[in-house]
Amino acid sequence: MPPAPARWFASDNAAGAHPAVLEALVASNTGHALAYGQDDWTRRANAAFCELFDRDVEVLFTFGGTGANVVALSCILPPAHAVACSRWAHIAVDEAGAPERFLGAKLVLLDSADGTVSPDDVAGLSTLIGSQHHAPPGVLSLTQTTEMGAVWGVDALRETCSAARALGLAVHLDGARIANAAAALGGRDALRAMVADVDVLSFGGTKAGAVYGEAVVFLDPSRARHAMNLRKQATQLPSKMRYIAAQYEALLAGDLFIELGRRANASATMLYGLLRDIDELDLGLPPQANSLFPRLPSTVKERLQEWSFFWDWDPRDRRVRWMTAWDTSDDDVMRFADGVRWALEHADN
Ligand SMILES: Cc1ncc(COP(=O)(O)O)c(C=O)c1O
Repeated sequence: MPPAPARWFASDNAAGAHPAVLEALVASNTGHALAYGQDDWTRRANAAFCELFDRDVEVLFTFGGTGANVVALSCILPPAHAVACSRWAHIAVDEAGAPERFLGAKLVLLDSADGTVSPDDVAGLSTLIGSQHHAPPGVLSLTQTTEMGAVWGVDALRETCSAARALGLAVHLDGARIANAAAALGGRDALRAMVADVDVLSFGGTKAGAVYGEAVVFLDPSRARHAMNLRKQATQLPSKMRYIAAQYEALLAGDLFIELGRRANASATMLYGLLRDIDELDLGLPPQANSLFPRLPSTVKERLQEWSFFWDWDPRDRRVRWMTAWDTSDDDVMRFADGVRWALEHADN
């Protein structure tokens, strides 16, 4: 095999933290600061979020993304209601049933090929409303960038949000990869436009260069009435909050998170460009953000995974996932593409 790249194509959360984040962490490690968010870093990070979204927002930091989603949903879901989401949603597939357990609510799964949800499918939820025998949907939870690597266009996202509003549903956006979407759609203005009809956003930092910690952003602050207590109940109240807030301050300064999302996306586009001519990979259309879902013969896949690790995606369809991160270099991409080509050409050896 050719030399392996320095960095894997396994996931954006396999990457380390950006140096600016680490510097901010070290700088925040001075003296004593009151716990539970009563510190200057948290105040400044809140102000930075208000500036980013150009409106008053309420921000609650959590330890992780599953926790952020659970806290966000618990603040906007009325009693005896269900959460509607795509069948690929992280909350439905990869959170070990945390939303169902914590919310005590049903998830209603909507059909989707790429993680987006059509306005018509949302409108179809009306059949669940009005009968005491059903769990009527109270929240529509969407993901941007989706679990399948799709980036909703601003108009498409807003149309689906409007369909939810027409039924009286609140809207949650799981933005674990909001940085990649903001970068793909052109930056800060696009970010503001895409959340125009969203009530609560789980704003991802971990995949965008943070060490850990996520933010629940209440774009409609009136939804945050019980949020602090719900966060504590959900065991997501960080005591030394300054260490999460300081990371966000660094990521938001000069829109660093968008720049890091852009780098990750550019690496995926470069990888696609280097391998698109290999039909058996079935790469399809260019990546919209930072992931590719190629098909690989199993022997080639195993050889490559030993050489430079990446995850299986859908073994029945022989699909794997290659994901770039903020720190993926051009050299990583070239070496990885060389290795893939080499492994396919030597498939029988
Ligand atoms: C779409 C999405 N939401 C949320 C999360 C957050 O998960 P975690 O609880 O591991 O931080 C992830 C992480 O993979 C994700 O991909």
